[in-house]
Amino acid sequence: MAFVVAVAQRKGGVGKSTLAANLAAAFAGLGERVALLDTDPQKTLSHWHAARGKAGSRASVLDFEAPAGWRVPATCDKLRRSHDIVLLDTPPHDDTDARIAIRAADLVLVPLQPSPADLWATGATLDLAKAEKRPVAVALNRVPAQGKLAGEVAEALREKGLRLIDAPIGNRSGFATAFAAGLGVTEAAPRSLAADEVRALALALRSLAPR
Ligand SMILES: Nc1ncnc2c1ncn2[C@@H]1O[C@H](COP(=O)(O)OP(=O)(O)OP(=O)(O)O)[C@@H](O)[C@H]1O
Ligand SMILES: [Mg+2]
Repeated sequence: MAFVVAVAQRKGGVGKSTLAANLAAAFAGLGERVALLDTDPQKTLSHWHAARGKAGSRASVLDFEAPAGWRVPATCDKLRRSHDIVLLDTPPHDDTDARIAIRAADLVLVPLQPSPADLWATGATLDLAKAEKRPVAVALNRVPAQGKLAGEVAEALREKGLRLIDAPIGNRSGFATAFAAGLGVTEAAPRSLAADEVRALALALRSLAPR
């Protein structure tokens, strides 16, 4: 049975689609049976997946679907039986579709850019996960190479009793380059720092799967 993870955060542009695609590619590279679901009407991952069709042998095998919101629970149930991990990318702003995806998941992965504004904006997503009784794990994304903000945000999360995954992702141009080619950074640039970080995040996330 698969571990189902919804990547959710009401704030736009925080890296939901980037992390969902890169984690999917990293898990596939580790030999896991991966399904990636695009539940966002923006269809960001559908574009990524279309580009992936031309990426050739660098792209590991993964299953991809873009179900309409009302079909997400049944699609998840089906994929759960035949995969090791199912990752759902979710839309910003739309509470109804995000709620459906969160309800279908075992864990909500909340990408967070280390800034006070982003931290404050996370409350709505945390409330949604709480209402659906789903555990949450926060992943810091676009962490600048220098400065104290990431440490301060991490401390604020701990004070709130939130689980912070100890595998931050830096602010790296390789993510956009790989994304444009329909790849994850572990496929496009396997020896890069970005790839090391994504693999570390994937392993840390794996350890959170229910036993
Ligand atoms: N770690 C990173 N380093 C550099 N750029 C990043 C990183 N993560 C995301 N980005 C960039 O930030 C932008 C927004 O990322 P993405 O589309 O993944 O966010 P999102 O949360 O899915 O947005 P939306 O809410 O619109 O769905 C993209 O241009 C992406 O390439
Ligand atoms: Mg997105």
